[in-house]
Amino acid sequence: MKKIVVDGVTKTFGDTVALDNVSFEVPAGEFVAILGVSGSGKSTLLRCMSALTEPTEGEIIIDEEPMVTPRPEVAMIFQQHNIIGDMTAYSNALSGAIHEAGLVESIFQLQDRDEKERALEALDTVGLLDEAQKKARRMSGGQQQRVGIARALVQRPTVLLADEPVASLDPGSAQDVMRYLQHAAEQRDLTTFISLHQVNIARKFGQRFIGLRDGQKVFDGYRDELTIDAVDKIYGDIDTEGMFVRPDSEPDGSPTEVAR
Ligand SMILES: Nc1ncnc2c1ncn2[C@@H]1O[C@H](COP(=O)(O)OP(=O)(O)OP(=O)(O)O)[C@@H](O)[C@H]1O
Ligand SMILES: [Mg+2]
Repeated sequence: MKKIVVDGVTKTFGDTVALDNVSFEVPAGEFVAILGVSGSGKSTLLRCMSALTEPTEGEIIIDEEPMVTPRPEVAMIFQQHNIIGDMTAYSNALSGAIHEAGLVESIFQLQDRDEKERALEALDTVGLLDEAQKKARRMSGGQQQRVGIARALVQRPTVLLADEPVASLDPGSAQDVMRYLQHAAEQRDLTTFISLHQVNIARKFGQRFIGLRDGQKVFDGYRDELTIDAVDKIYGDIDTEGMFVRPDSEPDGSPTEVAR
């Protein structure tokens, strides 16, 4: 049984073809990076997978059920972490249980003990248990993004979708956040899709890579297959020099280029 099936998905906005007949299947537990230049369709794909957007054609099946309305087991994390600055890390994380508790209960934090424990466990997963009572606005961008991840984890997802979760972060914080995402995925056995601009970060953390260009899937493969030629196919004429690191080197801001 495949965890996720994307079958012939096309999405148009007027004359714009944002996704053009995209298909792939992903087994449970894979950590997938979605690559592509701005406008290639990454966000549209993730929004279709989370049922925030309805495909014009084709369908998405998660756990053998068509994805027609948002489901709590499919959690989405955004670039703007959408957390509330005046609330503590803990309260922000706990608000992820809104699906179960309902809006009123969430506002007054009347969630049951199980949900409160889950919020603390989720903060622990992202390394913020000690900061649980800190106001989110007093945290760094990377920490705030980790609070956003914790909030998604409180939903008890089996699928995690993250749209450019590290785009606004400096390289060090970006890697921190990616490390925690990877840790959460391993610890909780999540199937994870992350759209990323930075090829070197994708390469370091991704297991499988789906490349989009003009809405079409132009690459789908595992780390060994993500060669310079594959990157060229995804990014076209854009100069990808320096976006690439050897799999065994640390992308510490001074990437080494892979030989052709
Ligand atoms: N709601 C919308 N209405 C009209 N056009 C849209 C809408 N959403 C996306 N598009 C168009 O669809 C195409 C794909 O957009 P999408 O946001 O999926 O790309 P992306 O790869 O996420 O880009 P970026 O890296 O800039 O976030 C673009 O041409 C975009 O302008
Ligand atoms: Mg986008």
